[in-house]
Amino acid sequence: MTQTGPHTADSDGSSTLLTVTVTRPAAGGTFVGRHEGRVVFVRGAAPGETVTARVLEDTERAASARFWRAEVVDVLEAGVDRVPSVWPEAGPDGVGGAEWAHIALPAQRRIATEVLRELLQRAGSDSFPLEDVQVEPAPHDLDGLGWRTRVRYAVDAEGRVGMRGWRTHDVRPVGADPLSVEPIRALRLGEWTAPAGVEAIDVAAPSAGPVSVVLMGRDLDPSAIELPDRLADADVAVRTARSLVPLRGDGTVTERVGERLFRVSATGFWQVHRRAPELLTEVVSAALHAPRGGSAWDLYGGTGLFAAAAAEQVGPDGTVVSVEGNRRASELAAENLTDLPQVRTSSADVTDWVRARRGGVDCVVLDPPRAGAGIELMELLCRVVRQRIVYVSCESATLARDLAAAQKAGWRTVDLRAFDLFPHTHHIETVAVLERDR
Ligand SMILES: C[S@@+](CC[C@H](N)C(=O)[O-])C[C@H]1O[C@@H](n2cnc3c(N)ncnc32)[C@H](O)[C@@H]1O
Repeated sequence: MTQTGPHTADSDGSSTLLTVTVTRPAAGGTFVGRHEGRVVFVRGAAPGETVTARVLEDTERAASARFWRAEVVDVLEAGVDRVPSVWPEAGPDGVGGAEWAHIALPAQRRIATEVLRELLQRAGSDSFPLEDVQVEPAPHDLDGLGWRTRVRYAVDAEGRVGMRGWRTHDVRPVGADPLSVEPIRALRLGEWTAPAGVEAIDVAAPSAGPVSVVLMGRDLDPSAIELPDRLADADVAVRTARSLVPLRGDGTVTERVGERLFRVSATGFWQVHRRAPELLTEVVSAALHAPRGGSAWDLYGGTGLFAAAAAEQVGPDGTVVSVEGNRRASELAAENLTDLPQVRTSSADVTDWVRARRGGVDCVVLDPPRAGAGIELMELLCRVVRQRIVYVSCESATLARDLAAAQKAGWRTVDLRAFDLFPHTHHIETVAVLERDR
C-alpha cells in the first residue's frame, strides 16, 4: 500500500479518487472525512483510517454537491479497529449487507452506540441520559455469525445465485455466506444455477419446521419447475406476479417463541436474528406494564408476536388490538392468537386506524418499518395513550425523530435499550419506553 499525502485528488478516468482520513462515524454505516473543506461520507472505512476512496457520484455532479459520498478502494493507514473481514465476498465490489464485516465486533457496537447517541442528541430527544445509551450484543452472541434466518438471494440472467452488489444491481457471489444460519448455508444456493425466469430467491429458516425456499419470477410457470436434490428437505413455493403457489408445504413457516407457535407467510415479515423474537418479547414484556383487565394496542403487529405478550399482561378480562397493514399477516395473527380471546386483529394503516379511535388506551407497543411511526402518529398516541408507549425500532434516525416528537408532546423516554441484532452491519434494534412527563 502506498502512502500519499492527505486530501489529494486524482482521477482514474471515470471517477474521482481521493486520499482521505476519516474521523467519526455517520448514520448509514459510513465514516466522515474532509476533502478540501468538503465533507465526504466514506463507506468501507474504519475509524481513524487514511484511505483512497472513489467518489460515488459522477465527477461533474459531485463537484457541485455540498458533500460527497465515496467508497474505499485502498486502505493506506489501517485503523486499530480493522480486522480481516469475516466475509471477504462482502464490501466494496462485493455483496452488500455486511458493510462492517472488516471492523472488530466490539468496535462495531461502540460505533453504533456513538451514532445512536448523536442521532438522539441532534433530534433533540434528550430526556433519556445519552451516557446510558449502549448497544448490547444479542444473548450468547460471541462472533456475530450464523444469525440471519431470512435471506433474499438475487439471480442473474444466467441463473447464477448471489446477492446484489454493494451499490449496484449486479449479482455478486456470496461465498460462505457466514451471517446466515446453518440450515440456509447448508442449501449452498450460491453454487446453484436457478431455472430460467427465477429473478430472486427468498429463504427462511424458521425455529420450528423445515426451511422454506420461494423462487420468485414475474412470469414463472410453477408446473415447469423441477426441484433439485438440494431442496429435497425444504418447503418450496413459487411467487409469480399473480400469486404464491406452494409446490411443497403450504406457503407458510412456523416459528416457536417460548411455548407459542406462530405461522408466518414464507415471504412475510419475521424478526431476522434467530434470537430476536425471544429477546424482543422479553424486553417488550418487561417494559409494557399493561394493567390486568386493561387495554393495549400492538401497532404494526405483523403475525402477533407482541400482541401475545400484551395479552398475557392484560389477562382474559382485558383487551388487545393488533393492527397490521398486510392483510395476510393480520389473518395469520388472528389464527396464531385464537386461544387468546382478549386479542382482536385489524388490518389497516396504523395512522388511519389510530386517527379514527374515539377512546383511549392504557399501553401501546409499536414496531414500525424503517420509515418509523412519523410525527402525526406520535402526536396522536401522545394524546390517547394513558400510561406507556413501547417503541421497537430498526432505524435509529426515525426513532430519534419520533422520540423528539413525543418529548415535545409532553412525554419522556424513561428507558432505552439497543441491541446488535444485525452484526457486521450498521443496523441495530432499539426498544424505547415512553411515559407522560406531566
Ligand atoms: C418491523 S415489522 C414488525 C412486525 C411485528 N411487530 C413482529 O415483530 O413480527 C413492521 C410491520 O408493519 C407493517 N406495516 C408497515 N407499514 C404499515 C402501516 N402503514 N400500517 C400498518 N402496518 C404497516 C408491515 O407489514 C410489517 O408487518
